[in-house]
Amino acid sequence: MHDFHFKNNELTCESVRVSDIAECVGTPFYLYSYKTLADHFTKIQKAFAAVNPEICFAMKSNGNLAVVKALADLGAGVDIVSGGELKKALLAGVNPQKIVFASVGKTEEEITRALKAGILLFNAESTAELDEINRIAGRLKKQAAVALRINPDVEAATHQAITTGTLKNKFGIDLDSTRRILKARKRYPHLKIRGLHIHIGSQIVQREPFVRAIKKVAAFIDELKGQGIRIEYFDIGGGLGIIYKDEKPQTAEDFAKAVLPSLQATGVRIILEPGRFIAGNAGIFVTKVLYFKDNGYKKFLIVDGGMNDLIRPSLYGAYHEIVPVTKTKGKKVKVDVVGPICESGDFFGKDRMLPAMKKGALLAVMSAGAYGHVMSSNYNARLRVAEVMVKGTRFEVIRKRETFEDLTRGEIIPSFLKTGRKATS
Ligand code: LLP
Repeated sequence: MHDFHFKNNELTCESVRVSDIAECVGTPFYLYSYKTLADHFTKIQKAFAAVNPEICFAMKSNGNLAVVKALADLGAGVDIVSGGELKKALLAGVNPQKIVFASVGKTEEEITRALKAGILLFNAESTAELDEINRIAGRLKKQAAVALRINPDVEAATHQAITTGTLKNKFGIDLDSTRRILKARKRYPHLKIRGLHIHIGSQIVQREPFVRAIKKVAAFIDELKGQGIRIEYFDIGGGLGIIYKDEKPQTAEDFAKAVLPSLQATGVRIILEPGRFIAGNAGIFVTKVLYFKDNGYKKFLIVDGGMNDLIRPSLYGAYHEIVPVTKTKGKKVKVDVVGPICESGDFFGKDRMLPAMKKGALLAVMSAGAYGHVMSSNYNARLRVAEVMVKGTRFEVIRKRETFEDLTRGEIIPSFLKTGRKATS
C-alpha cells in the first residue's frame, strides 16, 4: 500500500531513514515516496488496461512539479482546475493533449490560455460557460474540445464538503439540460462537444455510487447514439477512497471489475482523474515535539507543525494516523497532538495513545500526500514547509522551506503610511 515502514524501530521511506532527512532539512516537512506514487499509478493503469484509459492525475491533490513530472514521465495526464495548474502542468512537461480542465468558474484568461495550449478537453459545467468558451474560441479562430460535466444526482456517502454529484451541489449540468444543450449544439459553432464527464465526490469507499453514476451516463451515451450524437470520451472523474484508519475501500481492481462492463459497452475512450488514490498514502507530514503539557484534565503534545500546514483534521475532522518516527517501548499515554496556532481547531489528532515523547522527538502524520501541502497557508505568518521526495536510497528537497523574505514578498506599505517609526529587520 505504501513504502513507509519501520526498520530497526526507525520509520523509513523506501531506503532512507525519516530522521536522517529531518536532520538535513529541519522540521516540519512533507515527505513523498516516488515508488508509492508510481505503484499507485500503475495499479490503476493495470486495473483498467482493458479500456486503455487516459489517467489524468488530479493535480489539486498534490501539484508539486516533481510529483507531476514523476507521473507524467510514467504516462499520466492531469486534471487541472485553474490557470495556475495549467502553467505548472506545462512546466512539468505534461502533454497538453492529456490535460482536462474542470472548474465551475473558469475565467476568460484561463480559457484563453488553455485554448492556446491545446488541451484535450474543457470539462464544462454550465450553459453560461459553454457560451463563454464558444465566444473566446471564436475570437481566437479555434475549435474548443469540450466535455459536458453531468451532475448525475447520485449521493455518495462521504464528508458533505467533498460530495459533488447531487443537485444540491454547484457542480455539473443536470441530465435534462445536457439533453437540451446537445440538441442545440449548433448554437456553439466554435465548440466540439466530444465528451461527457462526471465526478461525484472524494474519499468514496463504496462501489455503489460509482456504479450507479457510471451506468446512468453509459445509458445516456446509448440514448445519444440512437439520435446520431457521437460521444468520443467518457471521463469518470476521481474520488476513490483510501485507507486513513480502518476504512475498507475497494482496490483499483475491484473498482475496475465493477465498472468495466458498463464502460466497455459505451465503446468510447475512458478518462480517469484519480488524485488521492495516487498521492494520499505516498506522503507523510513530519513534525517535531516542542512541549508536553498536562493541565490536569488533558494531556497535550505540542508540535511545530500546525493547521496551516495540514488542515484536513481541522477542516473535515479527518483522521490521520500519527506515529513516532523512532519506536520506543515505554507506557503509552492519551494525548491530543496539537500545533502552535491560536485556535482550538489546530490539532492533528485527539485522544491518541502515544509513548511519552521528549522535546525534539519526531512524529509522522501519515497519509498526508494528498490535499496536504497544496492546502497549506501562511496563517499566523508561518512559513510554508519544505517538501522532499525519496527514490530508493536518495532523497531531494522538491520545494524549499519558505523564508521570511517570501513571507512579505508582495506586501507594500503605502506612501501615506510612510511617516511613522522606521521598521527594523
Ligand atoms: N476530478 C475532479 C473534477 C475533482 O473535483 C476532484 C477532487 C478529483 C478529480 C480528484 O478527486 P480524488 O481522486 O482526489 O478524490 N480537500 C479535500 C478533497 C477535495 C476534492 C476536490 N475534488 C480533502 O482533503 O479531502
